[in-house]
Amino acid sequence: MEPDFSDLDVECPGVQEVLAHLLNRRQFLALGVGSCLATLALSSYHANAASPQIATSANLPQGNSPMIDITPTDPNYFIPNRFDGKTLLITGAATGIGAATAIRAAREGAKVIGLDRKVKELTETISQIQAEGHAATAIVGNVVETAVCDRAVAEAVQLYSGLDLALNAAGVMDAGDPGQPLNFQGQRNLLPKSIHEATDEYWDAVLATNTTGVFKSMRAELRQMVKQGKGGAIVNIGSIAGLTGLGGNPAYVASKHGVTGLTRQAALDYAPYGIRVNSVNMAATATPMTDRAFEFMKEAQKEGANSPTASLKTQSLLMASDSQKRMATVWEQGAIILFLLSADAANLTGGTYATDGGWTAY
Ligand SMILES: NC(=O)c1ccc[n+]([C@@H]2O[C@H](COP(=O)([O-])OP(=O)(O)OC[C@H]3O[C@@H](n4cnc5c(N)ncnc54)[C@H](O)[C@@H]3O)[C@@H](O)[C@H]2O)c1
Repeated sequence: MEPDFSDLDVECPGVQEVLAHLLNRRQFLALGVGSCLATLALSSYHANAASPQIATSANLPQGNSPMIDITPTDPNYFIPNRFDGKTLLITGAATGIGAATAIRAAREGAKVIGLDRKVKELTETISQIQAEGHAATAIVGNVVETAVCDRAVAEAVQLYSGLDLALNAAGVMDAGDPGQPLNFQGQRNLLPKSIHEATDEYWDAVLATNTTGVFKSMRAELRQMVKQGKGGAIVNIGSIAGLTGLGGNPAYVASKHGVTGLTRQAALDYAPYGIRVNSVNMAATATPMTDRAFEFMKEAQKEGANSPTASLKTQSLLMASDSQKRMATVWEQGAIILFLLSADAANLTGGTYATDGGWTAY
């Protein structure tokens, strides 16, 4: 789905410059209105909206370094048989990073249990895996509910004889239903706002999915792994917002810092059981969540929302250096997640891996 930019006010400072990039390249930065608006306002590119000028090695001014683009991970690449005999539970498996990781893990031999609240998209993802000849099962439900998390693990045991690996990817940026389009005007109470303007509904729902949902998912997964007595590995999806602040997103930032804490705590408590627990903490990655965040940014920009402190950082190192200003891909994220779940990561636990294109490096 391509974002609709028709409502953007092109008279606002900086908007024309950035539109030139956004329209064709889906440039999108962090998941915060502050940071997003800062991007709109502070883009250092000076392209013409009607005829964008792309910075390439051919047209950069003399004296600048050439921009050599890094090739994204091939969506078709996988390591055959790496997860043969393993069962992997993925929450948030319907779309985005969870779905891509599920698809690649199955190609690598894993039997996949996919849990999500989006029925149609989850069915499509699991059907694709099955159509490729692999074992996969869909569990429709909400990770906020203890019974759903427990049921997903019970299904793994019943259908696939146990649980070896887990990816906790379910997450939201706001309190709206992720299966429904953003309703900016109708659901203002559910959307990100700075602390003094934030509602209880926004705070409670984001924390419930992003932090309590990870707690309940891990609790069910760890109970089974401890019971089995043969170790295991878990990856939680955090965010750069679990490592730093992100303008205008208090509940998202707090919830992802909660994921960082849960990851470290579980690593500490379950190392004696041979269970490794790590997190991946990405910056902007092209998924339905970033599409939604862009819609939000566009609506908020119309109201003139901005903050000087949200403009302090707007791009990862790799996004800034890429001629297309591309976001990370789900396949790039999935590659690191599956590495962390694999035997090659045998000495890694308690890590919060900045899979962020260098966002947190400066
Ligand atoms: N895309 C990014 O730029 C980005 C950046 C940092 C962190 N993340 C994190 O990555 C994870 C995956 O998100 P994504 O970017 O792939 O977006 P996404 O929206 O495609 O995937 C999230 C999935 O989680 C599901 N989900 C949400 N709440 C749920 C709940 N309560 N119960 C069950 N399922 C639920 C959604 O239906 C969706 O399928 C999230 O935790 C997100 O916070 C994403």
